Amino acid sequence: MYLPKNCRVITIGDGDLSFSRALLEHVPPNNLIATTYDSKDVLRDKYTRNALDDLLNAGVIVEHSVDIKDLASVNRLPQNFADIVIFNHPLVPGQHRDISPQKERKKSANLANRDLLYHFLKQSFQVFLNPEGQRLCYITSKSVKPYSDWHIETSLTLNRPYQFLGNQLFNLSLFKNYMVRKVDRDKYVKHEESKVYVYSDNNAHPINGYLTAFRFAEDKCCPLCRIGPFTHADDWKNHHHTRLHKTQQQYHDLWSAHCNLNYQYL
Ligand SMILES: C[S@@+](CC[C@H](N)C(=O)[O-])C[C@H]1O[C@@H](n2cnc3c(N)ncnc32)[C@H](O)[C@@H]1O
Repeated sequence: MYLPKNCRVITIGDGDLSFSRALLEHVPPNNLIATTYDSKDVLRDKYTRNALDDLLNAGVIVEHSVDIKDLASVNRLPQNFADIVIFNHPLVPGQHRDISPQKERKKSANLANRDLLYHFLKQSFQVFLNPEGQRLCYITSKSVKPYSDWHIETSLTLNRPYQFLGNQLFNLSLFKNYMVRKVDRDKYVKHEESKVYVYSDNNAHPINGYLTAFRFAEDKCCPLCRIGPFTHADDWKNHHHTRLHKTQQQYHDLWSAHCNLNYQYL
């Protein structure tokens, strides 16, 4: 993870705060603001082992009940503070258990998670990032389903002033005692290969040298299914009729309609 010396960082939705604590090996305490979606009481209650006291003892500012979708709670944090804003393993709580059949539940969860990430990037670039700073946002996520169905590389920046620059592997060994937490209970998420997805409004950012660019945006590739390039026109046509593609297209169409209705930028 690219963390230049003396950079200032805000973490969003840090479950038990163990990632923010691990960041202290790379970032001085007064350069870090850690946030949790949960209130302080819920955090202490939900995660019996948490890093809140360690952060407070180190002099880190910790803000609770920060909902990245809610401007009022976002505005409680200092504006223009950060060089980098990080959201690790974002996931909307609840996951729409009441919706059936399963296909509809998946569509609803897909939309909700994209919306969460849309707001994360929007608030970060508009409120948290210093105009004179690094201007970077990181989303760490696994690249398997259901997360890969969010089209994290292509769906969050259309007509926005920032772009997806590329990804790099998340190196867990750099973050001592960081445990990924389940969103709604005192359990750990199994560590699997994850990637850091990087966004900036500076296309020529020096971080590019460390990143793998998204190669399926090119001609004759399918960015939704991350396949290609197709060499024959028939392969391309056949791909459009596969179940894989139809499912991904549905997610894409749903998100486009949502944005048209709510954000009018697609
Ligand atoms: C799977 S947990 C990961 C927790 C933590 N980031 C980690 O890496 O261990 C998903 C996190 O997303 C946070 N989250 C969900 N919706 C949010 C929102 N609207 N604003 C801020 N955080 C949110 C949850 O509180 C939860 O901590």
